[in-house]
Amino acid sequence: MTAPSSTLSLPRARIIGTGCALPDKVLTNADLSKMVDTSDEWIRSRTGISERRILEEGRDTSDLATQAAQRACESAGVTPAQIDCIIVGTVSGDMLFPATATIVQHKLGARPGSAAFDVSAACAGFIHGLSIADGFIARGTFKNILVIGVEILSRIIDWQDRNTCVLFGDGAGAVVVTADASGTSGILSSHIFADGSQSETLCSPAGGTRRPITPEILAARGQFVFMNGREVYRHAVKNIAAACVHALAHNGMNAEAVDCVVAHQANLRIIEGVAERVGLPLDKFHLNLERYGNTSSASVPIALDEAVRSGRIQPGALVLMCAFGGGFAWGSALVRW
Ligand code: ACO
Repeated sequence: MTAPSSTLSLPRARIIGTGCALPDKVLTNADLSKMVDTSDEWIRSRTGISERRILEEGRDTSDLATQAAQRACESAGVTPAQIDCIIVGTVSGDMLFPATATIVQHKLGARPGSAAFDVSAACAGFIHGLSIADGFIARGTFKNILVIGVEILSRIIDWQDRNTCVLFGDGAGAVVVTADASGTSGILSSHIFADGSQSETLCSPAGGTRRPITPEILAARGQFVFMNGREVYRHAVKNIAAACVHALAHNGMNAEAVDCVVAHQANLRIIEGVAERVGLPLDKFHLNLERYGNTSSASVPIALDEAVRSGRIQPGALVLMCAFGGGFAWGSALVRW
């Protein structure tokens, strides 16, 4: 797309580096079938997932986030000292507060006094962070922004609940976004949405101020993630598809123009449903959920990093990113690479 001449001199947010970090430990479906009443066949046929990664004890969310951020900075050719703002999308941070982004700032060796904060939008946390970065850059607030999606869901899911524990994995992905007024590549638009009437359909019900942790909560295993899977599935397909259509319509484009879709890797059936609704062939989607499961806010930047490093995304490619998660919160971003 050619940008209108009036916008050519405005800075556009451009992704200039990507990185990811995945724990070494692999947990397969066969391993899970020894822990809960499930099977490789059930998990594969319902979700498309074969295995996921689990972070070893002694390492924190901020460690994995920092590793992904270092790789993104290296690939961008930017030093941590040049980062003006760190945005971390996560619902499994090191602590309830402070923000994990502040811990990453310190571990990464970014400047004290630069900005750092977390975004809580569950699986859509990275897209929300990217959209905030897009706005900061358009406004001229910052030049270089690190946007990270990271989750260590293995520490907040119930390993006795087969409805949820088979779905998730740990990981981190990051991008460096920079202000660039030189051309037409960059984030063309980003759109974020939420529906709070569904806040209890997928949530971590206890541990906040509404239900502080008590012995009774622990006995009822209320501190872990709760999900109504069928409702999530229904809303996910509908809303991700709508966010994709919105992104394309906003830019006056159609599905044929898209070269690569980097969608939240929750479940192959959700992605197939989105592909059908938007009119995008499945082979345009970069898929890795078979290997990593659902890494929530990390899934889009991990898949993006893989697609870039493998050469699947080349300069000039039109990349559509989209995600949906608890809240409900969802969003999309259209990027000219
Ligand atoms: N292994 C074996 N059986 C299982 C398992 C399991 N791991 N989990 C549930 N079952 C059982 C259920 O108990 C149920 O048994 P019942 O009929 O005796 O009650 C049976 O399998 C069928 O359950 P359904 O709910 O019909 O299964 P469905 O086909 O809907 O698939 C799933 C369940 C995979 C959770 C689906 O609803 C889904 O994909 N939902 C989206 C959830 C998701 O991706 N969440 C991630 C977080 S949000 C996000 O990232 C978008």
